[in-house]
Amino acid sequence: MKANIVMLPGDGIGPEVTAEAELLMRGLAKEYELDLEVESALIGGAAMDASGEPLPAETLAACRASDAIILGAVGGPKWSDPNAEKRPEQGLLQLRKELGLYANLRPVRLHPELANVSPLKSEYLEDVDMMVVRELTGGSYFGDKQEGEDWASDSCVYSRKEIERVVLQAAAIARERCGRLTMIDKANVMATSRLWRRVTDEIMQSRFPDVQYEFMLVDAAAMFIVSNPARFDVIVTENMFGDILTDEASMLVGSMGMLPSASLGEGKLGLYEPIHGSAPDIAGQGIANPFGMLASVGMMFDYSLGLKEAAHRVELAIWNCISHGQCTPDLGGSLTTTEAGTAVRERLGEYYLSQVAYG
Ligand code: IPM
Ligand code: MG
Repeated sequence: MKANIVMLPGDGIGPEVTAEAELLMRGLAKEYELDLEVESALIGGAAMDASGEPLPAETLAACRASDAIILGAVGGPKWSDPNAEKRPEQGLLQLRKELGLYANLRPVRLHPELANVSPLKSEYLEDVDMMVVRELTGGSYFGDKQEGEDWASDSCVYSRKEIERVVLQAAAIARERCGRLTMIDKANVMATSRLWRRVTDEIMQSRFPDVQYEFMLVDAAAMFIVSNPARFDVIVTENMFGDILTDEASMLVGSMGMLPSASLGEGKLGLYEPIHGSAPDIAGQGIANPFGMLASVGMMFDYSLGLKEAAHRVELAIWNCISHGQCTPDLGGSLTTTEAGTAVRERLGEYYLSQVAYG
């Protein structure tokens, strides 16, 4: 089988973590006789420096023609002038929109060894294992924006269709997991949230009678994520709330560097990126945590390349690295980014041992 992968290292620690992603995917491709074609392209601040555009036309064309995209991070102080007309983040937003990647899956699972790395008390962290499905191509990120001298506006718009397709995805995921879905909104204030409730009710009652669902206001959800995170199985929410709540949720599992994500649309093409940003404070030091990036590569093998086993192997290898204290300083370890990446690759075979041990 052939697979075309586009690598978008981006800015800050992006290139450091995508270098490990490339080594991991090349190693696995060899084992699965996957004929991998890997092409690098520019996005974000790096692309602005080279061409003035955060998403150059050739990057978009390469991504459209690919089977999967790996992205590091975009943004940084160099490009954050509030008066600038263009910003690195626009490149990422435009890419998501152009490719129709409306469902952003962000799994949050705690390795027990990391309960003491989390800033939360460990007694609140038992059984943290949730999947956040964030709507990714609508809402205030993409609504009409106006900026005057003394005023500005961002409109939040959602259509029934946009809500339906992401709720369907989330409900299907809930059915495969523990069968519980929480839709998070601000229906006591926002009209869009009330539409989300109506559409979610219709879908859940007509198509998912076996999946339990509830609605929760986003302010209460922000509280429950830290006070009782184990109550969540699958969360579905609009773009902005999903952005905010997943940074919050990353603290449950020890570090921002841990969370992977997959952005999916109607086809197999997906965009895989860690949820962390470009971390300019540690960029270039070789200490960035690559696990969120590598777990995203695992998700790529599953969702875009149809190799579930490879995905399980990556997941278990990361898990075992943590069990053995092989991690970067953010998790209390002393490995560099490349050492942590190497450790994951060296543990890929452990999946087979676990299969023998547990049948
Ligand atoms: C994320 C990031 C992006 C977002 C930024 C970089 C535009 O925070 O993927 O969570 O807000 O979607
Ligand atoms: Mg974010």
